[in-house]
Amino acid sequence: MNVVAQKSVDVALRAWQDQEPTVVFSGDCMDLLRSVPDGSISLTITSPPYCMGKEYETSNSISDFIAAHKLILPQIVRVTRDGGSICWQVGYHVEDGRCEPLDYLVFDILRALPGINLRNRIMWTFGHGLHSQRRFSGRHETVLWFTKGNNYYFDLDAVRVPQKYPGKRHYKGAHRGEFSGNPKGKNPSDVWEIPNVKANHIEKTGHPCQFPVGLAERLVRGLCPKDGLVFDPYMGSASTGVAAVINGRRFLGAETEEKYVALACDRLSMACAGTVQYRPVNQPIHVPSGHEAVARRPAHFVETLS
Ligand SMILES: C[S@@+](CC[C@H](N)C(=O)[O-])C[C@H]1O[C@@H](n2cnc3c(N)ncnc32)[C@H](O)[C@@H]1O
Repeated sequence: MNVVAQKSVDVALRAWQDQEPTVVFSGDCMDLLRSVPDGSISLTITSPPYCMGKEYETSNSISDFIAAHKLILPQIVRVTRDGGSICWQVGYHVEDGRCEPLDYLVFDILRALPGINLRNRIMWTFGHGLHSQRRFSGRHETVLWFTKGNNYYFDLDAVRVPQKYPGKRHYKGAHRGEFSGNPKGKNPSDVWEIPNVKANHIEKTGHPCQFPVGLAERLVRGLCPKDGLVFDPYMGSASTGVAAVINGRRFLGAETEEKYVALACDRLSMACAGTVQYRPVNQPIHVPSGHEAVARRPAHFVETLS
């Protein structure tokens, strides 16, 4: 299937109501959102502009971030169905070395909306990034997972990970001697180590701020039923969309920049054809053997503390 972007809100929404598996709106998410019916989205996963003056941003002011979120978050809540989820992935707004955690601002707005409850503040950690000189180098961002109502969809079995010690046994009590772990694996916890999408990452496109498909994939599998609809209002290169499509969920996305819309459509078409490249979330993190030239310490490097 060749995914084609729609510039008209009406045409995009008609395609979606006609059960198209993947619908891309080329335009402002607020224009789309105003026409999306109440309670029609199972899961929103997104990473909004941080207002840091990136190539796709017109602002580098934290007050613009807050103003935009005061507008969009009530709309997201309105379109989320009862029992549905909202996952907002953000990092920090940094100005002159001063950091503002953006999830604090998102939490403040969403906590005030009726029926919205925070379930997890997921720490997404990764090994690479900028090397800071006057503070510790940033190696995490967060995903805030909110639900609409208390009777929400959560399929833990779909996202379990292997135990570290699967052979562990109960050492006392009625089950003494029996295996103590769940044969289906363990809960992945709220700390997720997933490599970020740098230049040599298998998923790298021309978008400057992609998140990995694996991050969205775990959320899709755990928080969206098979017949559900996944939405990303700030779609970028459609990492959320790829995660939805490869897991058999329908996807609706919006993006203002035409060059990213084109990227997203290509990627989504490949996802539909089963040819998209992505890094599965459970793929182990690469550990250097020590024999690679880049892993050897040059003679003039001092020994560090650990
Ligand atoms: C942080 S990036 C998202 C990247 C995405 N998660 C990915 O993995 O590729 C935010 C995106 O939102 C887009 N954007 C900004 N304002 C928008 C708006 N009002 N409506 C739709 N898209 C918007 C930007 O062009 C940018 O591509």
